[in-house]
Amino acid sequence: MPKNRKWNVRRIVILTGSGISAESGLHTFRDKGGLWEKYDLMELATPEAFARNPARVHEFYNLRRAGLREVSPNAAHEALVRLEREFPGDVFLITQNVDDLHERAGSRTLYHMHGELCKIRCTVCGVVKNWSRELTVTTPCPACDTSGTLRPHIVWFGEVPFYMTEIEALLRECDLFLSIGTSGTVYPAAGFAARAKAGGARTVELNLEPSQGQGTEREVDQGELFDEGYYGPATRVVPAFVDELLKETTE
Ligand code: APR
Repeated sequence: MPKNRKWNVRRIVILTGSGISAESGLHTFRDKGGLWEKYDLMELATPEAFARNPARVHEFYNLRRAGLREVSPNAAHEALVRLEREFPGDVFLITQNVDDLHERAGSRTLYHMHGELCKIRCTVCGVVKNWSRELTVTTPCPACDTSGTLRPHIVWFGEVPFYMTEIEALLRECDLFLSIGTSGTVYPAAGFAARAKAGGARTVELNLEPSQGQGTEREVDQGELFDEGYYGPATRVVPAFVDELLKETTE
């Protein structure tokens, strides 16, 4: 690829957050009206909360799982599928989201680092199964048949996110890192932009507005972390960016 191109990239790593699903009708977490404004995450999204009141936690995730049937992927999810299909190099998608909108749009190389609403896990035999219906404290495990041992296959606060070994390698080797629809406030995802940058990647933020706190314990100014930022609703900003990138790298 000629060196003088603006985007001289071969390996793209994308991190998405709840902002990419906002225009599909799913709540984000920390925006006005977000999930953590309506619900107490310490009562619903920690292992201790589940041990204390599993029925309450099942109810919260049953509601969110059922809500997926009411929503569809949007133009931003679809633009990332187009990028994965048409970009001449590699594209890896890491999502903090537990919704299934990326897969329903057609994304394939997808890492759900915070787990998935449409999967459950048995705390006895460890099996992970696709699950679209209600889960209760007495639902028997489809593999080992013990009852009361199933939990949402979600990474709760205080638990270790999935795929971190693979993600570390991807961040080291990528030459373009895109951060889309995330406030950059929850680790380890909040540190990915800084890691990619340290590995020599160009970093770009696509968000409704510049995110705060990305990457290190102190407030960083956007310029330090991102080489470029494109701000506005994901359904406008992401397709436009993908169009520019594909035009540059496939003509
Ligand atoms: N288009 C683009 N960005 C948007 C849009 C939109 N239509 N609407 C909101 N955003 C942006 C907000 O500006 C904000 O930066 O999406 C981001 C949402 O931030 P959060 O609510 O903090 O969600 P997220 O970053 O995904 O949270 C990360 O925190 O609670 C945990 O596990 C949960 O995965 C989640 C993690």
